[in-house]
Amino acid sequence: MPAIAVIGAQWGDEAKGKVVHHLCRTAQMCVRFNGGANAGHTVEDALGTARLHLVPSGALHAGCRGVIGHGVALDPWGLERELDELQNQGRPKPNLYLSDRAHLVLPHHRWREEADGTADHIGTTRRGIGPAYEDRVARRGLRVADLADERSLRDGLEQTAAQSRFKGDIERVAADLIRFRERFASRTGNAQELITAALRGGEGMVFEGAQGTLLDLDLGTYPYVTSSTTTVHGIGWGTGVRVSLGRVVGVSKAYTTRVGEGPFPTEDLGAIGERLREGGGEYGATTGRSRRCGWLDLVALRYAHGVNGFTELALTKLDVLSGLDEVAVGVGYRIGGRIVERFPAQAEDLAHAEPLYERLPGWEEAIAGIRDFTALPAAAQRFVRWIEEQVGIPVTFIGTGPGAQAIIGRGEG
Ligand code: IMP
Repeated sequence: MPAIAVIGAQWGDEAKGKVVHHLCRTAQMCVRFNGGANAGHTVEDALGTARLHLVPSGALHAGCRGVIGHGVALDPWGLERELDELQNQGRPKPNLYLSDRAHLVLPHHRWREEADGTADHIGTTRRGIGPAYEDRVARRGLRVADLADERSLRDGLEQTAAQSRFKGDIERVAADLIRFRERFASRTGNAQELITAALRGGEGMVFEGAQGTLLDLDLGTYPYVTSSTTTVHGIGWGTGVRVSLGRVVGVSKAYTTRVGEGPFPTEDLGAIGERLREGGGEYGATTGRSRRCGWLDLVALRYAHGVNGFTELALTKLDVLSGLDEVAVGVGYRIGGRIVERFPAQAEDLAHAEPLYERLPGWEEAIAGIRDFTALPAAAQRFVRWIEEQVGIPVTFIGTGPGAQAIIGRGEG
């Protein structure tokens, strides 16, 4: 099995967790390389609905190890809560390994995110992600490896908390962190070596991206982005592994959503947006916020393909489009009287972009749970083929409902 990357092609929430879980049926390792507990990957299987924020989705399979690379902003309290929830669902303990170079998200990070107004201005997930990455770049962050020495851990905590003017109980934070270190001591170390050895040993490997291309710190809709590298390039950035990928799966919904602030050209503030939100259950897995909804945007999707070099697409939540007379797809923008087919760098340009739509026939039939492409209504098949032509790559997965089994695999899928 070649190494596979699964990357969000939109603003996150593309149902990557489900695609990763599907691909990991036959993989031995699933690696997270970016983001943190801001991610919300949902997997619905026979044991219930698992809401994962830090645990790699593939690690729900007994034979698949989950690795958290150094590019992940690791919230120890969040990880422990998540593992407890999985245990409460009666799931086997995931086989997890943590990079000792991963930076910790600490209580003062959340505090600072509120205090400096970033949480409201960007509409963040309020998980302390931005401030944790800020401390990392400013070379004052604390990493998993720093938990080894209690004295320097306390000093480090005091210093970083003072810089943030955080007045919380440092002793309690330190005690929690030491307990965390003990719990994970045998599962912490050089993740780069672990992943490289697994690749050399021929293990099937899936790199699970968090968030999406349009939220990438550099290539997304800056400044309305997250603070990590969410594209395929995040794999080297967040693991230190030079991997030759056999497949890069771009995941896109059959429509578009966004949470938080920032431009969204095809957003529909009327009945269609409401219909997509209700039909797709578009409420955040991490924050419960209602997601902004609109039609699929090919300008953005082609841009994401250009950035990541997708070998294929997973088109998720196609079932949500059932029952519409016609389905629209953005194919260009009008910005200040000019027709634009390239995704602009300026958030301001995008905010004023008026989308140009191609309208395709819709389909009446419910398609939830269908697992065979030829069983889809003709109009749904045409919609999928049209997207393949427009982007120039095959659609190898189609999501037809929330359950882990509601997926059509085509070709290699
Ligand atoms: P942060 O990552 O919490 O700093 O939030 C920055 C921006 O990224 C906000 O617009 C968030 O709503 C968005 N964001 C972060 N993580 C996710 C995600 O997993 N899905 C969708 N949006 C996200």
